[in-house]
Amino acid sequence: MNENKIIKFEQASKVYPGDITALSNLSFSVEKGELVFLAGHSGAGKSTILKLIAGIELASSGTITVNNINLARISQNQRTFIRQHIGLVFQDHKILFDRDVFANVRLALDICSNSSAKEINARVTRALESVGLEHKIHARPEQLSGGEQQRLCIARAIVHQPKILLADEPTANLDRANALKILELFKNFHRAGVTLIISAHDESLLGDYGKRIIRLSNGQFRG
Ligand SMILES: Nc1ncnc2c1ncn2[C@@H]1O[C@H](COP(=O)(O)OP(=O)(O)OP(=O)(O)O)[C@@H](O)[C@H]1O
Ligand SMILES: [Mg+2]
Repeated sequence: MNENKIIKFEQASKVYPGDITALSNLSFSVEKGELVFLAGHSGAGKSTILKLIAGIELASSGTITVNNINLARISQNQRTFIRQHIGLVFQDHKILFDRDVFANVRLALDICSNSSAKEINARVTRALESVGLEHKIHARPEQLSGGEQQRLCIARAIVHQPKILLADEPTANLDRANALKILELFKNFHRAGVTLIISAHDESLLGDYGKRIIRLSNGQFRG
């Protein structure tokens, strides 16, 4: 087994209830520290790939391994281990509007850390600094612009310093200038050695960033 392959799909398919085939027999792998873009039309299967890697959905057939752990045969301990190593920026944000920026980011730490309040403060502050949002630490989410809300989502995804960062359409709904700023942030994480998979419907944004693009159409590779 190649130790450098942090994510591996082997003939993986996903069929949702209702006999909806989202992915058909996909095989590909991602190396440690790689930056990969997922492109494809609405319904192509981008979110499904990210959910499978994060263990939110299980493959219907085939094998998916993350860190050499087969996600189909996973113990509770291994699931916790994997969750601690993955950060996920959801397509639908999942920001909690009943609490401030700090509390939104802290929440992501609660599931996998029993650190002291001081340590939690330091980690949340560091995460917000890395996305340029430290000055909004006590703001309410509704006081943030669209680009700032997306930064909040990224801060929440990286606060536990994951080795793998999955971002589902992080530049959707942003103007070009803000979208490029978000991509610049991801480039920083990439430089720091994080493995990144980012779905994006607008390939024209990627420019130099798009060194490796996996293109999907109807759950299969295209081009
Ligand atoms: N929970 C679900 N139950 C049934 N079908 C689903 C479910 N989630 C996704 N699908 C279907 O699976 C296919 C792939 O969906 P997916 O969300 O992965 O696409 P996507 O490429 O992320 O699209 P978008 O760009 O619109 O976000 C679509 O046909 C979709 O309708
Ligand atoms: Mg999607």
